[in-house]
Amino acid sequence: MVQLNNNFLKLQDNYLFSTISKKVSNYKKNNPNKNIINMGIGDVVLPLPEVCIEAMQKAIIEMGNKDTFKGYGPEQGYEFLREKIATYDYENLPISPDEIFISDGAKCDIGRIIELFDTNNSIAVPDPVYPVYVDTNVIAGRSGNFNNINNKFENIEYLTMNAENNFVPSIPQKKVDLIYLCFPNNPTGTVLNKEELSKWVEYAKQYNSIILYDSAYEAFITDPSIPHSIYEIEDATKVAIEFRSFSKTAGFTGLRCAYTVIPNNLVINNTKLLDLYRRLISTKFNGVSYVTQKAAEALYSFDGFMQVNKNIEYYLNNAKIIKDKLNELSISSFGGENSPYIWLKIPNNMNSWDFFDMLLTTANIVGTPGSGFGPTGEGYFRLTAFNSLENTLISMDRLEHIF
Ligand code: MLT
Repeated sequence: MVQLNNNFLKLQDNYLFSTISKKVSNYKKNNPNKNIINMGIGDVVLPLPEVCIEAMQKAIIEMGNKDTFKGYGPEQGYEFLREKIATYDYENLPISPDEIFISDGAKCDIGRIIELFDTNNSIAVPDPVYPVYVDTNVIAGRSGNFNNINNKFENIEYLTMNAENNFVPSIPQKKVDLIYLCFPNNPTGTVLNKEELSKWVEYAKQYNSIILYDSAYEAFITDPSIPHSIYEIEDATKVAIEFRSFSKTAGFTGLRCAYTVIPNNLVINNTKLLDLYRRLISTKFNGVSYVTQKAAEALYSFDGFMQVNKNIEYYLNNAKIIKDKLNELSISSFGGENSPYIWLKIPNNMNSWDFFDMLLTTANIVGTPGSGFGPTGEGYFRLTAFNSLENTLISMDRLEHIF
């Protein structure tokens, strides 16, 4: 008889954003006339930058012509895009095009990367954090069982991030093999400065650990002292893999394009991780479409930079509107300055899912319950700035009526 991967049975509920989407659909079915404003999943609303549209139109013409048609592309991504990324995103940093892997999303890369590592490796995750890190490791059999008392998996080291420690996770007292860090953080919207990030690089060097650094939101950093890349820290190429995405910066959530950097310096037992990863993706992945990669390449031009910056400023302005209103209502909030996410402390000790229901039914606003991101998220709630200005203003007006 076929045996299932029983690790799936250890997962808690459905994937967070699927649970939310189901709850919202049910509410909509029973309340078809309500105007629901979605500030839950971090999905962009502004259309693709004009430079991308032009580049895709040209690329489609090429694909329709027998002399310029492209079949399978390189699994690692076209060199024209990898070169642009190395030149502009890693300007003055020791990253070369052959260390960059183009993909269909940071989420997919985060899911794929763990296949490089033995199941017995120990892992640490910030708490709260993007649920994909934990869920993928549960499925891979690395988590141990779920403990219903503390709401943690027994083999995962949770790095607490809360208002008390200023959302700076403390370095573990023991050795951990794989450490996930996500900054600007999803969901809290908080950042690490160079000094704080350096401590993690030092730790990883000391224990031969690997840091899986998710910097999908780096383009939202406004404070010039905050690092955009972990490779701004000396020696980080010896200990860190970095994930980035065009989803939130250029509105590619529906188009799909991202990339992962695996430096040549990352070597375990004389094996370069980059070679293993190339082997993995050539087995499981056929690359991102030529048309999409042309769209991404077009972002690395004067007009591309201007158009992306305009979109980022638009979302950051929404974030400011949200934060200002929360301040006015005396609701503590974090993030939102170097990030599109605002992390608020729920008033009156209400729990995260009760607050979710209350907000949905009384203000028709969808947010994300903090507990969905980890046990320390209980009592907190995430709102995103990824909406139209108009909807952001309406939602804040509604909030004012319920507080
Ligand atoms: C989020 O809302 O946390 C993100 O949109 C999820 C994702 O990027 O997959």
